Amino acid sequence: MSASTSEIKRVTTHVIQAMKTRGEKIAMLTAYDFSMARMLDEAGIDILLVGDSASNVMAGHETTLPITLDQMIYHAQSVVRAVHRAMVVVDLPFGSYQANSEIALSSAIRIMKESGAHAVKLEGGSEVEESIKRILMAGIPVMGHLGLTPQSIYKFGTYTVRAKEEVEAQKLRDDAQLLQELGCFALVLEKIPANLAKIVSESLIIPTIGIGAGQHTDGQVLVTHDMLGITKEFKPRFLRRYLELFDAIGDATKQYINDVKNKDFPNESEQY
Ligand code: KIV
Repeated sequence: MSASTSEIKRVTTHVIQAMKTRGEKIAMLTAYDFSMARMLDEAGIDILLVGDSASNVMAGHETTLPITLDQMIYHAQSVVRAVHRAMVVVDLPFGSYQANSEIALSSAIRIMKESGAHAVKLEGGSEVEESIKRILMAGIPVMGHLGLTPQSIYKFGTYTVRAKEEVEAQKLRDDAQLLQELGCFALVLEKIPANLAKIVSESLIIPTIGIGAGQHTDGQVLVTHDMLGITKEFKPRFLRRYLELFDAIGDATKQYINDVKNKDFPNESEQY
């Protein structure tokens, strides 16, 4: 009898693969710091992605391009320290793997060695084939990422849905097969038509994890700050908000300011 995912001590690539095989959906969220990672891990999340979206969410940049390998390692270290059960996957940031496979391998090794993470993720298909091969040869699990790949935003020009036209859809299907053949253990599909994501997910043995890719992928991922409503203006159709923390934190902060100004905080029981 196989253990259900809630009883599993540590989520590994094998556990993720077994979930696809038995039709159990995979839940992934982003995390960039210790406190958030601890809450998400305790709640039972399967995979925590230390995404390069930290560049937007944590550092306030407009794109994911500026974040550095050192900064990704810092975020990954904080997340790994918090986690007991979830698998931790770390994005290779822009510029850390595109130049050649040697640079890619050394970036991936730094992430694994210095943070203790369990896998890396990188964007692209055939363009980054050599880098993926080299990283996999070193025994480092790789998660692929196709569709909208935010590190190429200046090539795309917009964050709209990708692969609506047949030529791009065919390239995505070919890249998905290639990533599986190379040995990637899973694949993120970002912002593509649900029907294309269904075809790709059904054609692959490895799991797909969608964001804005519909209900037929083997798992789902959201940026935690979007899902919790910490970010305010970002409201794409695919995003479900489970909390409105921007407003809730604002209200609590106003209450605190009020209490301090009115000399209500601290009161007698809150002092020594
Ligand atoms: O960096 C990130 O948060 C991601 C997810 C959107 C998949 O790559």
